[in-house]
Amino acid sequence: MIKINENYLNLKENYLFAETAGRINAFQKANPDKKVIKMGIGDVTLPLCKAVTDAMTEAVAEMSEKESFRGYGPEQGYEFLQSAIADYYAGFGVKLENNEIFVSDGAKSDLGNILDILSKDNKVLIPDPVYPVYVDTNIMDGREIIFADANEENCFLPMPDYDKDADIIYLCSPNNPTGAAYSRDQLAEWVKYAKAKNAVILFDSAYECFIVDDNLPRSIFTVPGAKECAIEFCSLSKTAGFTGTRCGYTVVPQELEVSGVKLNKLWLRRQTTKFNGVSYIVQRGAQAVFSEEGQKQIKENIGYYRKNAEIITTALDELGIFYTGGKNSPYIWLKCPDGADSWDFFDFLLKEANVAGTPGAGFGENGKNYFRLTAFSTHENTAEAMERLKAALKK
Ligand code: MLT
Repeated sequence: MIKINENYLNLKENYLFAETAGRINAFQKANPDKKVIKMGIGDVTLPLCKAVTDAMTEAVAEMSEKESFRGYGPEQGYEFLQSAIADYYAGFGVKLENNEIFVSDGAKSDLGNILDILSKDNKVLIPDPVYPVYVDTNIMDGREIIFADANEENCFLPMPDYDKDADIIYLCSPNNPTGAAYSRDQLAEWVKYAKAKNAVILFDSAYECFIVDDNLPRSIFTVPGAKECAIEFCSLSKTAGFTGTRCGYTVVPQELEVSGVKLNKLWLRRQTTKFNGVSYIVQRGAQAVFSEEGQKQIKENIGYYRKNAEIITTALDELGIFYTGGKNSPYIWLKCPDGADSWDFFDFLLKEANVAGTPGAGFGENGKNYFRLTAFSTHENTAEAMERLKAALKK
């Protein structure tokens, strides 16, 4: 008889952002006259930049001619995009071979799919709070999960605890949801720990483009020795507005071996079997992100979101509310006023200010009295949301 994967029964009823979207939609339906400002899921509002759309338009034209039409592409990504990514990494001192770069439809898919090549017997160490995909995908496989506490005392940057054993370690810096970012020395501590435990670090660098502080690492591979123990996941979603266009990449170094087997080889085998690559048109657009013009244009957009972060942090400073993030990150992680429960604060803000954020509890136990706002809205809506927040808290 057919059996289901019973691990799915151990998941919460809904994925976090499906749950918040459901509640927001229900509120909007019941209150059609209210204008809800959405600062919950990290979805961008600015369009793709011109360098990207020009490249995609050209690619569409190529696809419409017999001579330049393309069918299946390489599963690992076109060489032109791999080279553009390798050059980008060279810009912060990391040398990559093209065969270490795997182009995909985004970091979320790869972060989930990478588990295909890692045994279900591995013990997983995940910071709390955290991007819920890391936890949910491991629950789906039935792996044992332990948590590293991120809290106000450690500035939401937990460090290794050698009394705890782990085989798979998740790190995200700048962090989703807290916006906190590890220094290179701190990442070096994690690399040391991973090596001591024969573990692999799954490093999510999806927000590296938001780093303004030049001393902060934009890749774990800027730490010596990290290529022997880490895989890095990155995405163009937030950096270049690809949330709906879909493109990301994963770096699996050739140096990374587990029991004498290269993880690069296993991941290539997995991808060539289960994935047919990202569309040519999207990869041409992604290549343009790394061009001189593309970099200039995406930086303008990131600057726009940064201004929103400043509007939010200025309002929180005025209100005397504790927060992290907002400087090297598009996320602002704030402490709910008066020790409120984060789901209660979510409901309060939605009802009283018609502003939607994300309750910290959705990111883990340590988030239960925290709340996440994103800087991806428009200037006008961000400013209005902060005025409404102030008014609601004064009531
Ligand atoms: C978030 O809001 O945490 C992100 O948008 C989710 C994602 O990137 O999948």
